[in-house]
Amino acid sequence: MENIIVRGGKTLQGEVKVDGAKNAVLPILAATLLASEGKNLINNVPLLSDVYIMKEVLAYLDAEVHFDEAKQQIEVVSEGQLRTETPFELVSKMRASVVVMGPLLARFGHVKVAMPGGCAIGSRPIDLHIKGFEALGAEVTMTNGYVEARADQLVGTDIYLDFPSVGATENIMMAAVLAEGVTTIENVAKEPEIVDLANYLNRMGAQVQGAGTDTIKITGVDAMHGTDHCVIPDRIEAGTFILATAVAGGEVLVKDALVEHNLPLISKLREMGVEIVEEMDAVLVKSDGHLKATNVKTLPYPGFPTDLQAPFTIAQIRAEGSSVMEETVFENRFMHLEELRRMDAQFKIHGDTVSFEGPSQLQAASVQATDLRAAAALIIAGLVAEGTTVVSQLQYLDRGYHHLEDKLQALGADIKRIDADELQSRPASDFFD
Ligand code: UD1
Repeated sequence: MENIIVRGGKTLQGEVKVDGAKNAVLPILAATLLASEGKNLINNVPLLSDVYIMKEVLAYLDAEVHFDEAKQQIEVVSEGQLRTETPFELVSKMRASVVVMGPLLARFGHVKVAMPGGCAIGSRPIDLHIKGFEALGAEVTMTNGYVEARADQLVGTDIYLDFPSVGATENIMMAAVLAEGVTTIENVAKEPEIVDLANYLNRMGAQVQGAGTDTIKITGVDAMHGTDHCVIPDRIEAGTFILATAVAGGEVLVKDALVEHNLPLISKLREMGVEIVEEMDAVLVKSDGHLKATNVKTLPYPGFPTDLQAPFTIAQIRAEGSSVMEETVFENRFMHLEELRRMDAQFKIHGDTVSFEGPSQLQAASVQATDLRAAAALIIAGLVAEGTTVVSQLQYLDRGYHHLEDKLQALGADIKRIDADELQSRPASDFFD
């Protein structure tokens, strides 16, 4: 077991480069299963534990997968008959693996996947995915914790999503590319990761139009082939560095950060008094650490992303005056705040809304990450806390950030990853002297 220790008080200076987007690469890797001939070469792949799990899922399904970590490149060949069942042991490790359903159903007419359970941030059903498959003509059954879909041939149709779910949009889009005729999906998710997936599908031979708008139109094709692709940068990782600098103070150039993917964050931070300069494929952040209060509500893209809600609350905790955060996307996403109470953060939670009366001077404490973005939030809190904060449960962090501590250390933060046993032998603060 490892922990991250952070000693508060340093400002951040320098340059940091953002990796490829976790939430783009996972559905793109699932989409490689659609290629009945040729090789897929996916570039700018982040070295994240979720990516290793998706690689395991593809290999289990009998695709040939090779991960060249030095080049951050994954090659997938999925010619011939593949398995169409994914067991609970794999789905339970990562709920995003349900996005293999659309491709397998489309190509082989059958898929059986363990139902993903709930997770720390809410119940997260997949009813919208299933409704979409049914609308395309699949027969879907649920038995013994597995969901199974069958169809001799999917047939294009009009589908309206009750909520613009990212996963449902991806899964239905990938099912429809090999359906007979035209599928129109309305009220779809508009996230940049959806656009990246659609671009990749089109290069594989699909005909997908409208990704990035409310309506996606797909004209089915007979077969798809392997191709190469470069994954877009991770807007949430970029946002995490932008926020870390805003909170800790300093001047950091976040490279491979696309401004147009982070507009709500940038506009909110400007309201709070942070200087943000847009550069070519980069964002320069300057902050003296003194922040003004502001209110935020999470929404589907292009609204404020739920994945930056937890890190953003640290800016609100540190801001002067009253701030409010409203979480409308997931029902249980304030778990990081319970940990932050132990760091003396002042706030009140009322259902899906939390109000802050700042600034709170944070005190170092031992805290536990409860999910991926909570982990990032606690580390940012540690950057400004008095004393040395110890963050545990790093398996969450490693799902979505590759060596976040090394990148922050290169920017001047006092931060280290330490073996838990080592930490028992001497106080956390000793590791920086
Ligand atoms: C994706 C992202 C995740 C991000 C989320 C919202 C990946 C791998 N993960 O997750 O990081 O936080 O988008 O931007 O891309 N819902 C239903 N029925 C469904 C599907 C979803 O009710 O069939 C609800 C969920 O419970 C949730 C909301 O819709 O309240 C949003 O979920 P969704 O957009 O599907 O998120 P994910 O695709 O799971």
